Amino acid sequence: MNATPKNTRKLHVVTHGCQMNVYDSARMADVLAPLGYTTVDSPEGADMVIMNTCHIRERAAEKVFSALGRLRDLKEAGGGTMMIAVTGCVAQAEGDILLQRAPYVDLVVGPQAYHRLPELIAQVHRTRKSAIDTDFPAEKKFDFLPDEAAAQGVIANLTIQEGCDKFCSFCVVPYTRGSEASRPAASIIAEAKRMVALGTREIALLGQNVNAYHGEGLDGRGWSLARLMAELAEIPGLLRLRYTTSHPSDMTEDLILAHRDNPALMPFLHLPVQSGSDKMLAAMNRKHKADDFRAIVARLREVRPDMAFTSDFIVGHPGETDADFAATMALIRETEFALAYSFKYSPRPGTPAAGLPQLDDALMDARLYELQAELRRQQDAFNASTVGLVTPVLFTGLGRYPGQIAGRSLYAQPVVVESPEALTGEIKMVKITHANPNSLLGSLKKEVLAA
Ligand code: SAH
Ligand code: SF4
Ligand code: F3S
Repeated sequence: MNATPKNTRKLHVVTHGCQMNVYDSARMADVLAPLGYTTVDSPEGADMVIMNTCHIRERAAEKVFSALGRLRDLKEAGGGTMMIAVTGCVAQAEGDILLQRAPYVDLVVGPQAYHRLPELIAQVHRTRKSAIDTDFPAEKKFDFLPDEAAAQGVIANLTIQEGCDKFCSFCVVPYTRGSEASRPAASIIAEAKRMVALGTREIALLGQNVNAYHGEGLDGRGWSLARLMAELAEIPGLLRLRYTTSHPSDMTEDLILAHRDNPALMPFLHLPVQSGSDKMLAAMNRKHKADDFRAIVARLREVRPDMAFTSDFIVGHPGETDADFAATMALIRETEFALAYSFKYSPRPGTPAAGLPQLDDALMDARLYELQAELRRQQDAFNASTVGLVTPVLFTGLGRYPGQIAGRSLYAQPVVVESPEALTGEIKMVKITHANPNSLLGSLKKEVLAA
């Protein structure tokens, strides 16, 4: 008898959007593995293609429809048997419109319903009709998804919190991901232990509002993110912790002090501020002022002097004047970011800001250009400031060229080093010798033997 199961099916997953989607895509593959689906790198010849989509800006959502057009051609060429599923935030926000515009799509599944994929697929096979599930079910998907099957590598992500109750004026996330929910600490710790057993050494804890984490602790009480990370740092072999994305309003003192007291926690924080103008922050419903952000940055630098920051900015939100934009530029100049992401405001259907008078497109472009030039300068300056440092690097695998190995710095910068040994999963001291725009070069520091 042949040992390979006869019903092996090919699954191709395309992922757009944020790290939550990357994580969800892996979990969907895990859900489908027991049905005989193995993942393949290309949609050609696949039995099922999942497009895990993002709705955050207009361009992200439009990408879905152009990609679906190409999948339709593939489906027709293959005799129509390929199943096409659209998941993620476009599925949640525009599921019905999507099925109208692209009737060859077989399945539309929102981010809260991935654990129901097997029964939805069976339903499509049975009824030969498209199916849609964009409910926010009473059961939590975290409790129903299987344990992850595949090793993610030395650096890995772990979702601990999902959803958002903040309702910023511009943002679709509260509508696509639903209200804020935290996983119990016990299940997070168990998952982290499995990841470490599979070779993971650095974990980034993920959530749309990760610092609002308030899951059930091992003692039955609500645990903060800082408390959870203190527990995770005790796992032998887990060397580094990060968390993303945070909201300034939830940067509590215990979390700030964790950057001083938790040896596994990296001196690096992604803290989106969006704007430096109090008037715009109020219009955006961000619930804090520019000075609150300044105070968080100052306090973190006080408790952890080597702390570095990244952020997100939006230019051209309705109502933004030259003076508001100047306030944003001032905040950027005085903060000195290691890196930042910046976006032109994109009106999203159903969000409050989309109904307001919009700014002139050319004006937004000009502001974005000016802001990105300054952020680029800061990123280059930050990378250049690491040249000459002797700093710990966690090695993740081989570099692009023979004889090279690659790793990550404290600030998640890719670092490349010449070494005859792989050192994968180990932290070694490296002297940084050169900064490229998006990576660093260095040499291994010889271990000095104690006399
Ligand atoms: N939860 C995080 C990230 C949300 S999405 C937070 O609270 O910051 C990631 C980034 O996309 C946001 O920080 C924001 O800068 C940007 N963004 C969200 N909606 C947008 C829109 N409608 N137009 C332009 N940028 C947007
Ligand atoms: Fe969106 Fe604001 Fe929630 Fe972030 S905090 S996900 S920007 S609504
Ligand atoms: Fe996009 Fe949804 Fe993430 S809109 S950014 S995939 S939460």
